[in-house]
Amino acid sequence: MEYPKNFMEDLVSLAKRRGFVNQSAEIYGGLQSSWDYGPLGSLLRQNLKREWMRRFVYRRSDIVPIESTLLTKREVLQASGHEAGFTDPLVECKVCHQRFRADHDIPEGRDHKHNLTEARQFNLMFKTTLGAVEDEGSLAYFRPETAQGMFVNFKFVQEAMRMKLPFGIAQIGKAFRNEITLGHFIFRTLEFEQAEIEYFVMPAEADKHFDYWVGEWQNFFADMGIKGDRVRLRPHDKDELAHYAKAATDIEYKFHFGWSELAGVANRTDYDLKQHIEHSGKDLSWFNEEAKEKVTPYVIEPTLGVDRLFMALLVQAYHVSKGNDGRKDGEVTLKLHPRLAPVTAAVFPLVKKEGLPDLAHEIVAKLRESEIGFVQYDESGSIGRRYRRQDEIGTPYCITVDFESKDDDSVTVRHRDSLKQERVKIQELVNYLQELLKTY
Ligand code: GAP
Repeated sequence: MEYPKNFMEDLVSLAKRRGFVNQSAEIYGGLQSSWDYGPLGSLLRQNLKREWMRRFVYRRSDIVPIESTLLTKREVLQASGHEAGFTDPLVECKVCHQRFRADHDIPEGRDHKHNLTEARQFNLMFKTTLGAVEDEGSLAYFRPETAQGMFVNFKFVQEAMRMKLPFGIAQIGKAFRNEITLGHFIFRTLEFEQAEIEYFVMPAEADKHFDYWVGEWQNFFADMGIKGDRVRLRPHDKDELAHYAKAATDIEYKFHFGWSELAGVANRTDYDLKQHIEHSGKDLSWFNEEAKEKVTPYVIEPTLGVDRLFMALLVQAYHVSKGNDGRKDGEVTLKLHPRLAPVTAAVFPLVKKEGLPDLAHEIVAKLRESEIGFVQYDESGSIGRRYRRQDEIGTPYCITVDFESKDDDSVTVRHRDSLKQERVKIQELVNYLQELLKTY
């Protein structure tokens, strides 16, 4: 599906105007390629992360979560190979001193053809120093992936939770990379969030688990709404595999700037655990009681970028009416999954008198107490205008309290996508919405 002209400008402008995303330190001119998530952006992300946790942790018995530090001891990233090898080839223009990734397309200079230096390897990790003395010994890094925190805690988690192979450790958290090429809104940033699982398996079963996780990852994306002709799987060629991987497949999304990686699944073999065994001198193997033998597990790693998935969700959900779907030409609806939508329900009194606002407030309180999600109250402007305000941010259910509501104890629920309107008893409203959210 092609993108209409100005698609991204319009989407970015909506994201800013409605409180999804703002440039970091915008009032000071902005911090490059760094973005803050506003109220609606934050709600959407929390919903997304909750769906992920539900699916991969709460509904399973074989995956447990951890939260490891962002600050990372240097030895960890020496062992993992990141200090020596987590690099991109960098070239610099001798005229304007702009820097580019040698393996990316290099844009034309404004008033000159770039005169590039030889490529050199540039390490992407952000360094910092711990304590008062800034010397080599106090050097630490901000983690470039959440994964290493799960490898170094392998034994701790396995023993504490009495896990048996195959089992996984899951983590959602920030990672940092001093990327050379930036841009495309929140697609490639310096600081971003990952949701990763390190799934530890018997070496002989690694290929089977790899295929299983590619399927699970794809299903998760599809269930969140990322499906159709803008999504594809792309297995990596041997020469583009990360230093730790034996096989990898990406989930790619076709943005306006082309097919780009949202997520991936990699077979990291026993590379990381073996490196940490060697460098720490600690035993990070698992004892197989049945076979009475020690195993260093292989690791299958499904990973995704929360910010990239967030961006794809907005792109996929952004819908401009052509005037033939019950809406006016040009009206925007974000067709987000109802459980992801930042506002789950909005409640409107038809008018600001005759006790309708009081009844509407009572309903808001009831919905909030039921924890169905974030609930908004809106009494300003015509009903049509209030619907449009909610459509634009993807609110799946709008509830109107009208003159009959006090007599028949009912309200009108308007559905965002079908525009269907249903009369529902106030008593049954919470149940009614919970059922809809459950079965979607
Ligand atoms: N632990 C494996 C790992 O970190 P990766 O492919 O380098 O693998 C995983 O990163 C995911 O993190 C990517 O699929 C992408 O969604 C996201 N990601 C990586 N670099 C990013 C950046 N600079 N900005 C935003 N997201 C990024």
